[in-house]
Amino acid sequence: MENTHPDIERVLFTEEDIAAIVKRLGAQITEDYQGRDLVLIAVLRGAVVFMGDLMRSIDTACSIDFMAVSSYGDGVKSSGIVRIIKDLDIDINGRDVLIVEDVLDSGLTLKYLMKNLASRHPSSLEVCTFLWKDVEGKQAAIDPKYVGVHCPDEFVVGYGLDYAEHYRNLPYVGVLKSEVYA
Ligand code: IMP
Ligand code: MG
Repeated sequence: MENTHPDIERVLFTEEDIAAIVKRLGAQITEDYQGRDLVLIAVLRGAVVFMGDLMRSIDTACSIDFMAVSSYGDGVKSSGIVRIIKDLDIDINGRDVLIVEDVLDSGLTLKYLMKNLASRHPSSLEVCTFLWKDVEGKQAAIDPKYVGVHCPDEFVVGYGLDYAEHYRNLPYVGVLKSEVYA
């Protein structure tokens, strides 16, 4: 690929790959949520780019809201500690909630989030993750209803995903060179 960032070891999903994935997910969600009361909830900040694309590929009425949680800090490993930094502004009671995530790794973040959101009595609660690192022997705590694409168990950046708040703006998903965080 032309103009790949010098810190990227290799590109896993190109802009074209991503566009096709988002189109497929949007069509599925459009079909499944016809006539329902869909609320997309994105987890800041990583899911913002995916959210922006996904919502435009959904052709049925929906609202959006955002939450911010922290589980990783600036590192590359899950701390298992999740803190709500920003809560929802809207009431999800009786509504059809779809959590929009950038990447599902251990699932610790989402597990916590889903328990928290379930206590607010949505009429349904599902997960749409762009990437799923469902590698063998590393079972995620969550079973997402919608999965963009399976991802190898490597640290990836781009399309919203960061390392220490960098690389979120790359339009593709790539593996970060290990010397960048070593
Ligand atoms: P989990 O709780 O282990 O599922 O981690 C979820 C969160 O960790 C994601 O929302 C990301 O913010 C971050 N994360 C996990 N894997 C990666 C990666 O490969 N690159 C960048 N961030 C990641
Ligand atoms: Mg992050």
